Amino acid sequence: MSDLCGIYEKIMMDEEWYGWMDQIKKLSKTGRYPELYADHGMRHAMRVAEYAVGFIDECYQYFGEDEIKKFHAFGHEEDFYSTAIAALLHDIGIVDGRENHAERSKEMAKKYLEKYEVSSDEIAIIAGAIGCHSGDDRIVNLVDAALMMGDKMDITRSRFLAFYDESLLPKISSIQRELMRIVRVNFFLDVGLGHGILEWGMMKEPKGPDFNDQVKHLLDVVVKEWPKAIDVPSMIINEFLGVEFSFVIDEAPVDV
Ligand SMILES: [Fe+2]
Ligand SMILES: [Fe+2]
Repeated sequence: MSDLCGIYEKIMMDEEWYGWMDQIKKLSKTGRYPELYADHGMRHAMRVAEYAVGFIDECYQYFGEDEIKKFHAFGHEEDFYSTAIAALLHDIGIVDGRENHAERSKEMAKKYLEKYEVSSDEIAIIAGAIGCHSGDDRIVNLVDAALMMGDKMDITRSRFLAFYDESLLPKISSIQRELMRIVRVNFFLDVGLGHGILEWGMMKEPKGPDFNDQVKHLLDVVVKEWPKAIDVPSMIINEFLGVEFSFVIDEAPVDV
């Protein structure tokens, strides 16, 4: 295995990578791509890395080193750092627009990684995950699943630029407004109970008597306007991992 941990650290100090992250941040604020009022820059990349490697750790703990091989896992450390690197690079193609950005990010990442000492097999794994992260392609291995999961988990209020810049509030869509109620997202595989749990923690304040209505409204809007936020994680947990799945909001199970 190459020194993937060292390469992950080098990328985070690399000017070319910073340049892309900066460009995406600027693009997000111009309103040229209104959907980009959701952050696709450095903070998003870092959060996706954190969620996605958490998913890798959960899977290794739940299935164990032997059983996990059935998901085309390559080893805990290798999967962990391949996923982290893929997360840093998964949206770089957005420098040229949102459309087809997964495929563009994949090609850019392949070329970019040539400057580090990464084997061609490792580049193929990292680039493969980047190319399928949008959720439309088939998951082939654990790294693909982890990146896709991490990306879909980044739907908290800190993802939305309007949370930091109130002048953007009138410009954001109804789905973005609803998602801004979510303060945290967790995923865990419960070893004792034998099932996976995806948990959204909603804003605690105001949590008045209409809180259940707020939850219902959030789900209605998500299911109608961006079902991927629920469909993709449930597909990964249920179909790919073959584990029963519960969806929970503020510790209360919800049927979707
Ligand atoms: Fe993306
Ligand atoms: Fe993303």
